[in-house]
Amino acid sequence: DLNLKNDHILNGKKVVVTAGGTIEPLDPVRYITNRSSGKMGYAIAKNALKHGAKVSLITAPTNLNRPSGMKVIEVNTSEEMEQQVLDEFHSADILIMAAAVADFKPVHFNDQKIKKHGGQLSIEFQMTNDILKDVSKIKKNHQIVVGFAAETNHLLQNAHQKLKSKKVDILVANDVSNHQIGFNSDNNQVTFLRMGKSPLTTKVKSKEKIAEALIQMISQLNVK
Ligand code: CTP
Ligand code: CA
Repeated sequence: DLNLKNDHILNGKKVVVTAGGTIEPLDPVRYITNRSSGKMGYAIAKNALKHGAKVSLITAPTNLNRPSGMKVIEVNTSEEMEQQVLDEFHSADILIMAAAVADFKPVHFNDQKIKKHGGQLSIEFQMTNDILKDVSKIKKNHQIVVGFAAETNHLLQNAHQKLKSKKVDILVANDVSNHQIGFNSDNNQVTFLRMGKSPLTTKVKSKEKIAEALIQMISQLNVK
């Protein structure tokens, strides 16, 4: 029960959470983004706060209310998010990358609105930096890093690959093909993966309860 667990298991810890889907502008009136609502990341940030942590929430645009009691850093692009994450990470104990970071951004930003012209429009994209991979290069031993994996198929195989390649302590795998859960839904069902441990799949439950389960798991890593 959520109310029974209002203890201060993260007292004195600094937790950085990213949330929402980054937006990559194409011209002054257009951008590319994704379906992330930000709900999971916000629920995690609020839960960490409830458990006594000092929280920095680095958020791409969402329709959610700005949470109080924490430092809220608003960003738009993946590049801005990366700068803020690297800035906050130095003094952090725990980083939770719940944001849906754009994988590609337009190669060119057009200063003027792109006009209609006959037929087709092709947009050239380039890959963004992988924030988690860059964080893994500067991560110190006492720091805990949590990644998410949004998958539509081969959930466990893909998520396990991300657990290894991103060098995270916990990988939270999300089936985003099921619209009852994930992205815009209030509920979620996730599988927690840890190196050398069996995967642990939750029931379908509220994002608040998923957040609680994640924070409990992190705090148990912490005492080791
Ligand atoms: N992530 C990141 N930087 C990126 C892209 C993703 O830090 N440029 C983080 C996400 O915040 C998430 C994790 O990496 O915690 C996995 O994101 P996901 O989109 O599932 O995986 P990708 O590595 O981007 O691979 P793909 O989208 O091709 O499955
Ligand atoms: Ca991705």
